[in-house]
Amino acid sequence: MITIDLIFGSESSPCYVGEGVLGEVRDLVRPFEGAKQIFVVTDATVGPLYGIDVAEHLDAPVLELPVGEESKRWQSVERVARWLIANQAERQGLLVAVGGGVVTDIVGFAAAIVFRGIPWVAIPTTLLGMVDAAIGGKTGIDLEVGKNLIGAFWPPRAVIADPLVLATLDLRQMRSGLAEVVKSAMIAPSILEHVLDSHLTSVAAGDPMQALELVVGCVRVKGEIVSLDEREAGPRRALNLGHTLAHGLEGATDFSRFLHGEAVAWGLLAELRLARDRGLLSTAEAVTWAERLQALAPLPSLEGLPWAAVAPFVERDKKRQAGRVGWVLPRMGGVVLDTAVEDDEARFVYHLLQQLPHEGPLTTLF
Ligand SMILES: NC(=O)c1ccc[n+]([C@@H]2O[C@H](COP(=O)([O-])OP(=O)(O)OC[C@H]3O[C@@H](n4cnc5c(N)ncnc54)[C@H](O)[C@@H]3O)[C@@H](O)[C@H]2O)c1
Ligand SMILES: [Zn+2]
Repeated sequence: MITIDLIFGSESSPCYVGEGVLGEVRDLVRPFEGAKQIFVVTDATVGPLYGIDVAEHLDAPVLELPVGEESKRWQSVERVARWLIANQAERQGLLVAVGGGVVTDIVGFAAAIVFRGIPWVAIPTTLLGMVDAAIGGKTGIDLEVGKNLIGAFWPPRAVIADPLVLATLDLRQMRSGLAEVVKSAMIAPSILEHVLDSHLTSVAAGDPMQALELVVGCVRVKGEIVSLDEREAGPRRALNLGHTLAHGLEGATDFSRFLHGEAVAWGLLAELRLARDRGLLSTAEAVTWAERLQALAPLPSLEGLPWAAVAPFVERDKKRQAGRVGWVLPRMGGVVLDTAVEDDEARFVYHLLQQLPHEGPLTTLF
Protein backbone atom coordinates (compact mmCIF):
# COMPACT_ATOMS: atom_id res chain seq x y z
CA MET A 1 0.00 0.00 0.00
CA ILE A 2 1.21 3.48 -0.87
CA THR A 3 0.19 6.46 1.25
CA ILE A 4 0.13 9.94 -0.23
CA ASP A 5 -0.53 12.87 2.07
CA LEU A 6 -3.04 15.28 0.64
CA ILE A 7 -2.58 18.76 2.01
CA PHE A 8 -5.51 21.11 2.05
CA GLY A 9 -4.95 24.43 3.85
CA SER A 10 -3.70 23.56 7.33
CA GLU A 11 -5.10 20.02 7.18
CA SER A 12 -3.55 16.90 5.77
CA SER A 13 -5.31 13.64 4.99
CA PRO A 14 -3.99 10.34 3.69
CA CYS A 15 -4.77 8.78 0.34
CA TYR A 16 -4.15 5.03 0.49
CA VAL A 17 -3.63 3.31 -2.85
CA GLY A 18 -3.10 -0.42 -3.08
CA GLU A 19 -4.34 -3.61 -4.65
CA GLY A 20 -6.60 -5.28 -2.08
CA VAL A 21 -6.60 -2.25 0.21
CA LEU A 22 -10.39 -2.43 0.39
CA GLY A 23 -10.00 -5.56 2.54
CA GLU A 24 -8.23 -3.39 5.11
CA VAL A 25 -10.94 -0.77 5.21
CA ARG A 26 -11.75 -1.39 8.86
CA ASP A 27 -8.22 -0.63 10.03
CA LEU A 28 -7.90 2.34 7.73
CA VAL A 29 -11.18 3.92 8.78
CA ARG A 30 -10.98 3.18 12.50
CA PRO A 31 -8.89 6.25 13.40
CA PHE A 32 -11.69 8.46 12.03
CA GLU A 33 -14.56 6.83 13.84
CA GLY A 34 -15.13 9.49 16.47
CA ALA A 35 -18.47 8.51 17.98
CA LYS A 36 -18.14 5.03 16.47
CA GLN A 37 -21.00 5.67 14.10
CA ILE A 38 -20.22 4.92 10.48
CA PHE A 39 -22.64 5.26 7.56
CA VAL A 40 -21.93 3.92 4.10
CA VAL A 41 -23.47 5.46 0.97
CA THR A 42 -23.07 3.86 -2.44
CA ASP A 43 -25.04 3.52 -5.68
CA ALA A 44 -27.23 0.68 -6.92
CA THR A 45 -24.49 -0.75 -9.18
CA VAL A 46 -21.52 -0.39 -6.84
CA GLY A 47 -23.50 -1.47 -3.76
CA PRO A 48 -23.84 -5.17 -4.65
CA LEU A 49 -20.28 -5.22 -6.03
CA TYR A 50 -18.41 -3.47 -3.19
CA GLY A 51 -20.53 -1.09 -1.09
CA ILE A 52 -22.37 -3.73 0.91
CA ASP A 53 -19.11 -5.58 1.63
CA VAL A 54 -17.48 -2.38 2.85
CA ALA A 55 -20.50 -1.70 5.08
CA GLU A 56 -20.22 -5.23 6.52
CA HIS A 57 -16.52 -4.76 7.24
CA LEU A 58 -17.36 -1.52 9.02
CA ASP A 59 -20.47 -2.86 10.70
CA ALA A 60 -22.34 0.10 9.28
CA PRO A 61 -25.77 0.66 7.70
CA VAL A 62 -25.73 1.24 3.96
CA LEU A 63 -27.76 3.50 1.68
CA GLU A 64 -27.91 2.92 -2.08
CA LEU A 65 -28.59 5.91 -4.31
CA PRO A 66 -29.80 5.56 -7.90
CA VAL A 67 -27.02 5.28 -10.48
CA GLY A 68 -25.86 8.13 -12.68
CA GLU A 69 -25.46 11.88 -13.00
CA GLU A 70 -29.25 12.36 -12.66
CA SER A 71 -28.96 11.56 -8.98
CA LYS A 72 -26.45 14.37 -8.34
CA ARG A 73 -29.27 16.59 -7.09
CA TRP A 74 -30.58 18.18 -3.89
CA GLN A 75 -32.96 15.30 -3.52
CA SER A 76 -30.09 12.85 -2.95
CA VAL A 77 -28.39 15.15 -0.45
CA GLU A 78 -31.64 15.44 1.45
CA ARG A 79 -32.12 11.70 1.29
CA VAL A 80 -28.68 11.13 2.81
CA ALA A 81 -29.42 13.72 5.52
CA ARG A 82 -32.80 12.20 6.42
CA TRP A 83 -31.31 8.72 6.46
CA LEU A 84 -28.54 9.84 8.82
CA ILE A 85 -31.06 11.44 11.13
CA ALA A 86 -33.37 8.42 11.02
CA ASN A 87 -30.34 6.36 12.06
CA GLN A 88 -29.63 8.65 15.04
CA ALA A 89 -26.44 10.04 13.56
CA GLU A 90 -24.56 12.52 15.68
CA ARG A 91 -22.17 15.25 14.75
CA GLN A 92 -19.18 12.92 15.08
CA GLY A 93 -20.68 10.31 12.75
CA LEU A 94 -18.54 9.36 9.77
CA LEU A 95 -19.90 9.12 6.24
CA VAL A 96 -18.18 6.73 3.84
CA ALA A 97 -18.80 7.12 0.10
CA VAL A 98 -18.25 4.02 -2.04
CA GLY A 99 -18.68 4.75 -5.74
CA GLY A 100 -17.70 6.85 -8.71
CA GLY A 101 -17.50 10.63 -8.86
CA VAL A 102 -21.27 10.96 -8.65
CA VAL A 103 -21.42 9.25 -5.26
CA THR A 104 -18.32 10.98 -3.85
CA ASP A 105 -19.61 14.40 -4.99
CA ILE A 106 -23.04 13.86 -3.38
CA VAL A 107 -21.76 12.32 -0.17
CA GLY A 108 -18.97 14.86 0.24
CA PHE A 109 -21.47 17.68 -0.16
CA ALA A 110 -23.92 16.07 2.26
CA ALA A 111 -21.04 15.70 4.74
CA ALA A 112 -20.22 19.40 4.28
CA ILE A 113 -23.68 20.60 5.23
CA VAL A 114 -25.36 18.03 7.49
CA PHE A 115 -24.96 19.28 11.09
CA ARG A 116 -22.83 22.05 9.53
CA GLY A 117 -20.18 19.54 8.59
CA ILE A 118 -19.29 15.98 9.50
CA PRO A 119 -16.22 13.95 8.53
CA TRP A 120 -16.25 11.66 5.51
CA VAL A 121 -14.05 9.15 3.74
CA ALA A 122 -13.99 8.62 -0.03
CA ILE A 123 -13.65 5.16 -1.54
CA PRO A 124 -13.62 5.90 -5.28
CA THR A 125 -14.45 2.93 -7.50
CA THR A 126 -13.96 4.42 -10.98
CA LEU A 127 -10.62 5.43 -12.46
CA LEU A 128 -11.97 8.97 -12.83
CA GLY A 129 -12.92 8.96 -9.17
CA MET A 130 -9.48 7.76 -8.08
CA VAL A 131 -7.46 10.20 -10.14
CA ASP A 132 -9.77 13.21 -10.04
CA ALA A 133 -13.19 13.40 -8.37
CA ALA A 134 -12.19 12.12 -4.93
CA ILE A 135 -9.01 14.21 -4.82
CA GLY A 136 -8.96 17.92 -4.12
CA GLY A 137 -11.82 18.63 -1.73
CA LYS A 138 -14.46 19.81 -4.20
CA THR A 139 -17.93 18.38 -3.59
CA GLY A 140 -21.27 19.29 -5.08
CA ILE A 141 -24.41 18.67 -7.05
CA ASP A 142 -26.06 19.80 -10.28
CA LEU A 143 -29.04 22.05 -10.97
CA GLU A 144 -31.16 21.49 -14.08
CA VAL A 145 -29.57 24.68 -15.47
CA GLY A 146 -26.03 23.44 -15.10
CA LYS A 147 -23.60 20.99 -13.62
CA ASN A 148 -21.76 21.42 -10.32
CA LEU A 149 -23.41 24.77 -9.58
CA ILE A 150 -23.94 24.05 -5.89
CA GLY A 151 -21.11 22.78 -3.77
CA ALA A 152 -18.54 23.19 -1.07
CA PHE A 153 -14.86 22.64 -0.46
CA TRP A 154 -14.96 19.81 2.08
CA PRO A 155 -12.08 17.36 1.72
CA PRO A 156 -12.47 13.76 2.92
CA ARG A 157 -10.47 12.67 5.99
CA ALA A 158 -9.07 9.83 3.90
CA VAL A 159 -9.24 8.44 0.38
CA ILE A 160 -8.97 4.70 -0.13
CA ALA A 161 -8.31 3.65 -3.73
CA ASP A 162 -8.14 -0.04 -4.62
CA PRO A 163 -7.38 -0.52 -8.34
CA LEU A 164 -8.72 -4.10 -8.16
CA VAL A 165 -12.28 -2.75 -8.17
CA LEU A 166 -11.63 -1.46 -11.69
CA ALA A 167 -11.91 -5.06 -12.93
CA THR A 168 -15.70 -4.64 -13.09
CA LEU A 169 -15.70 -1.18 -14.64
CA ASP A 170 -16.70 -1.10 -18.29
CA LEU A 171 -14.02 -0.30 -20.79
CA ARG A 172 -15.57 2.95 -21.93
CA GLN A 173 -15.59 4.28 -18.36
CA MET A 174 -12.01 3.13 -17.88
CA ARG A 175 -10.86 4.96 -21.00
CA SER A 176 -12.78 8.04 -19.98
CA GLY A 177 -10.81 8.05 -16.73
CA LEU A 178 -7.61 7.56 -18.70
CA ALA A 179 -8.16 10.84 -20.53
CA GLU A 180 -7.77 12.62 -17.17
CA VAL A 181 -4.63 10.55 -16.59
CA VAL A 182 -3.17 11.72 -19.91
CA LYS A 183 -4.17 15.28 -18.95
CA SER A 184 -2.28 15.00 -15.65
CA ALA A 185 0.73 13.62 -17.51
CA MET A 186 0.69 16.62 -19.86
CA ILE A 187 0.59 18.94 -16.84
CA ALA A 188 3.42 17.15 -15.04
CA PRO A 189 5.36 15.00 -17.50
CA SER A 190 8.33 14.71 -15.16
CA ILE A 191 6.16 12.70 -12.75
CA LEU A 192 3.86 10.83 -15.10
CA GLU A 193 5.16 10.55 -18.65
CA HIS A 194 7.33 7.51 -18.02
CA VAL A 195 4.65 5.64 -16.00
CA LEU A 196 2.10 6.49 -18.67
CA ASP A 197 4.15 4.91 -21.43
CA SER A 198 4.58 1.66 -19.52
CA HIS A 199 0.93 1.27 -18.42
CA LEU A 200 -1.45 3.21 -20.64
CA THR A 201 -2.02 0.62 -23.34
CA SER A 202 -2.75 -2.24 -20.96
CA VAL A 203 -5.14 -0.19 -18.80
CA ALA A 204 -6.87 1.03 -21.97
CA ALA A 205 -7.32 -2.65 -22.86
CA GLY A 206 -9.02 -3.16 -19.50
CA ASP A 207 -6.23 -4.50 -17.26
CA PRO A 208 -6.76 -3.00 -13.78
CA MET A 209 -3.52 -4.56 -12.49
CA GLN A 210 -1.63 -1.93 -14.45
CA ALA A 211 -3.57 1.01 -13.05
CA LEU A 212 -1.90 1.34 -9.65
CA GLU A 213 1.09 3.42 -10.67
CA LEU A 214 -1.04 5.67 -12.83
CA VAL A 215 -3.38 6.33 -9.91
CA VAL A 216 -0.45 7.04 -7.58
CA GLY A 217 1.12 9.46 -10.07
CA CYS A 218 -2.13 11.31 -10.72
CA VAL A 219 -2.93 11.62 -7.01
CA ARG A 220 0.54 13.09 -6.47
CA VAL A 221 0.11 15.58 -9.30
CA LYS A 222 -3.40 16.71 -8.38
CA GLY A 223 -2.56 16.67 -4.66
CA GLU A 224 0.43 18.93 -5.25
CA ILE A 225 -1.52 21.41 -7.38
CA VAL A 226 -4.44 21.55 -4.93
CA SER A 227 -2.09 22.07 -1.98
CA LEU A 228 -0.77 25.19 -3.71
CA ASP A 229 -4.23 26.50 -4.45
CA GLU A 230 -7.07 24.86 -2.59
CA ARG A 231 -9.69 27.37 -3.68
CA GLU A 232 -8.91 27.53 -7.36
CA ALA A 233 -7.46 31.03 -7.54
CA GLY A 234 -4.31 30.25 -9.49
CA PRO A 235 -2.30 27.15 -10.35
CA ARG A 236 -5.30 24.83 -9.98
CA ARG A 237 -6.58 26.18 -13.28
CA ALA A 238 -3.92 23.98 -14.91
CA LEU A 239 -6.30 21.09 -14.22
CA ASN A 240 -8.63 22.66 -16.77
CA LEU A 241 -6.33 21.49 -19.55
CA GLY A 242 -8.53 19.90 -22.22
CA HIS A 243 -11.69 21.15 -20.55
CA THR A 244 -12.57 24.31 -22.49
CA LEU A 245 -13.58 22.42 -25.64
CA ALA A 246 -14.74 19.44 -23.53
CA HIS A 247 -17.34 21.57 -21.77
CA GLY A 248 -18.44 22.88 -25.16
CA LEU A 249 -18.91 19.37 -26.54
CA GLU A 250 -20.76 18.19 -23.45
CA GLY A 251 -23.03 21.23 -23.36
CA ALA A 252 -23.82 21.15 -27.09
CA THR A 253 -24.88 17.50 -26.86
CA ASP A 254 -26.70 17.86 -23.56
CA PHE A 255 -24.22 15.43 -21.98
CA SER A 256 -25.55 12.59 -24.12
CA ARG A 257 -22.86 11.78 -26.67
CA PHE A 258 -19.58 11.87 -24.78
CA LEU A 259 -18.44 10.57 -21.44
CA HIS A 260 -16.57 13.37 -19.70
CA GLY A 261 -13.14 11.90 -20.42
CA GLU A 262 -14.01 11.36 -24.09
CA ALA A 263 -14.80 15.06 -24.40
CA VAL A 264 -11.57 15.87 -22.56
CA ALA A 265 -9.61 13.71 -25.02
CA TRP A 266 -11.01 15.80 -27.91
CA GLY A 267 -10.15 18.93 -25.93
CA LEU A 268 -6.57 17.80 -25.38
CA LEU A 269 -6.15 17.09 -29.10
CA ALA A 270 -7.42 20.55 -29.99
CA GLU A 271 -5.06 22.15 -27.51
CA LEU A 272 -2.11 20.12 -28.80
CA ARG A 273 -2.73 21.54 -32.26
CA LEU A 274 -3.16 25.10 -30.91
CA ALA A 275 0.05 24.71 -28.88
CA ARG A 276 1.99 23.31 -31.83
CA ASP A 277 0.84 26.17 -34.06
CA ARG A 278 2.08 28.67 -31.47
CA GLY A 279 5.44 26.96 -31.10
CA LEU A 280 4.74 25.94 -27.49
CA LEU A 281 5.32 22.34 -28.54
CA SER A 282 7.29 20.87 -31.44
CA THR A 283 5.43 18.77 -33.99
CA ALA A 284 7.28 15.71 -32.68
CA GLU A 285 6.06 16.35 -29.13
CA ALA A 286 2.50 16.96 -30.23
CA VAL A 287 2.59 13.73 -32.24
CA THR A 288 3.88 11.78 -29.23
CA TRP A 289 0.92 12.97 -27.12
CA ALA A 290 -1.52 12.20 -29.93
CA GLU A 291 -0.07 8.68 -30.11
CA ARG A 292 -0.79 8.28 -26.41
CA LEU A 293 -4.35 9.54 -26.87
CA GLN A 294 -4.73 6.97 -29.64
CA ALA A 295 -5.07 4.34 -26.88
CA LEU A 296 -8.47 5.93 -26.07
CA ALA A 297 -9.68 6.00 -29.68
CA PRO A 298 -12.01 5.79 -31.48
CA LEU A 299 -13.69 8.63 -29.64
CA PRO A 300 -17.40 9.36 -30.24
CA SER A 301 -17.51 11.29 -33.48
CA LEU A 302 -17.98 15.04 -33.90
CA GLU A 303 -20.23 14.45 -36.89
CA GLY A 304 -23.35 16.59 -37.09
CA LEU A 305 -22.01 18.81 -34.34
CA PRO A 306 -21.13 22.16 -35.97
CA TRP A 307 -18.80 24.66 -34.32
CA ALA A 308 -21.74 27.08 -34.13
CA ALA A 309 -23.43 24.68 -31.71
CA VAL A 310 -20.30 24.17 -29.61
CA ALA A 311 -18.93 27.72 -29.50
CA PRO A 312 -21.59 29.27 -27.20
CA PHE A 313 -20.83 26.63 -24.56
CA VAL A 314 -17.11 27.25 -24.91
CA GLU A 315 -17.75 30.99 -24.36
CA ARG A 316 -19.95 30.29 -21.37
CA ASP A 317 -17.31 28.03 -19.89
CA LYS A 318 -14.65 30.71 -20.23
CA LYS A 319 -16.88 33.29 -18.55
CA ARG A 320 -17.43 30.99 -15.62
CA GLN A 321 -13.72 31.05 -14.92
CA ALA A 322 -14.08 34.25 -12.86
CA GLY A 323 -13.44 36.68 -15.68
CA ARG A 324 -10.51 34.76 -17.08
CA VAL A 325 -10.99 34.29 -20.75
CA GLY A 326 -8.03 32.13 -21.62
CA TRP A 327 -7.48 28.54 -22.56
CA VAL A 328 -4.94 26.33 -20.84
CA LEU A 329 -2.44 25.09 -23.43
CA PRO A 330 0.26 22.45 -23.18
CA ARG A 331 3.88 23.46 -23.60
CA MET A 332 7.08 21.53 -23.26
CA GLY A 333 7.21 20.21 -19.69
CA GLY A 334 3.88 21.61 -18.53
CA VAL A 335 1.14 24.10 -19.37
CA VAL A 336 0.51 27.80 -19.93
CA LEU A 337 -2.57 29.35 -18.35
CA ASP A 338 -4.85 32.06 -19.73
CA THR A 339 -3.96 31.93 -23.40
CA ALA A 340 -6.24 33.97 -25.63
CA VAL A 341 -7.59 31.88 -28.51
CA GLU A 342 -9.64 33.74 -31.10
CA ASP A 343 -12.91 32.20 -32.23
CA ASP A 344 -11.55 31.84 -35.81
CA GLU A 345 -8.60 29.87 -34.58
CA ALA A 346 -10.74 27.61 -32.39
CA ARG A 347 -13.15 27.04 -35.28
CA PHE A 348 -10.29 26.15 -37.61
CA VAL A 349 -8.89 23.56 -35.21
CA TYR A 350 -12.36 22.17 -34.54
CA HIS A 351 -12.82 21.62 -38.27
CA LEU A 352 -9.52 19.76 -38.40
CA LEU A 353 -10.75 17.50 -35.59
CA GLN A 354 -13.97 16.87 -37.48
CA GLN A 355 -11.99 15.81 -40.54
CA LEU A 356 -9.96 13.15 -38.71
CA PRO A 357 -10.93 9.73 -40.05
CA HIS A 358 -13.05 7.95 -37.42
CA GLU A 359 -10.87 4.91 -36.90
CA GLY A 360 -7.68 6.43 -38.29
CA PRO A 361 -4.53 7.78 -36.68
CA LEU A 362 -4.95 10.94 -34.59
CA THR A 363 -1.41 11.96 -35.53
CA THR A 364 -2.65 13.18 -38.93
CA LEU A 365 -3.86 16.26 -37.04
CA PHE A 366 -0.29 17.60 -37.21
N1 LIG B 1 -15.28 16.88 -7.24
C1 LIG B 1 -14.43 16.92 -8.23
O1 LIG B 1 -13.36 17.52 -8.14
C2 LIG B 1 -14.76 16.19 -9.50
C3 LIG B 1 -13.76 16.02 -10.47
C4 LIG B 1 -14.07 15.29 -11.62
C5 LIG B 1 -15.34 14.78 -11.79
N2 LIG B 1 -16.29 15.00 -10.82
C6 LIG B 1 -17.66 14.45 -11.00
O2 LIG B 1 -17.59 13.04 -11.10
C7 LIG B 1 -18.73 12.58 -11.81
C8 LIG B 1 -18.32 11.52 -12.78
O3 LIG B 1 -17.74 10.45 -12.07
P1 LIG B 1 -17.59 9.00 -12.70
O4 LIG B 1 -17.04 9.10 -14.06
O5 LIG B 1 -16.87 8.19 -11.70
O6 LIG B 1 -19.11 8.55 -12.92
P2 LIG B 1 -20.15 7.71 -12.05
O7 LIG B 1 -19.98 7.94 -10.60
O8 LIG B 1 -21.49 7.97 -12.64
O9 LIG B 1 -19.72 6.21 -12.37
C9 LIG B 1 -19.84 5.73 -13.69
C10 LIG B 1 -20.62 4.42 -13.75
O10 LIG B 1 -19.79 3.36 -13.29
C11 LIG B 1 -20.45 2.60 -12.27
N3 LIG B 1 -19.37 2.11 -11.43
C12 LIG B 1 -18.62 2.79 -10.55
N4 LIG B 1 -17.64 2.03 -10.07
C13 LIG B 1 -17.77 0.82 -10.65
C14 LIG B 1 -17.02 -0.38 -10.58
N5 LIG B 1 -15.91 -0.48 -9.87
N6 LIG B 1 -17.45 -1.44 -11.31
C15 LIG B 1 -18.56 -1.34 -12.10
N7 LIG B 1 -19.28 -0.22 -12.23
C16 LIG B 1 -18.88 0.85 -11.51
C17 LIG B 1 -21.38 3.57 -11.64
O11 LIG B 1 -22.46 2.92 -10.99
C18 LIG B 1 -21.84 4.39 -12.84
O12 LIG B 1 -22.84 3.70 -13.53
C19 LIG B 1 -19.34 13.79 -12.47
O13 LIG B 1 -20.53 14.13 -11.80
C20 LIG B 1 -18.30 14.88 -12.27
O14 LIG B 1 -18.87 16.17 -12.15
C21 LIG B 1 -16.02 15.68 -9.70
ZN1 LIG C 1 -12.44 16.61 -15.97
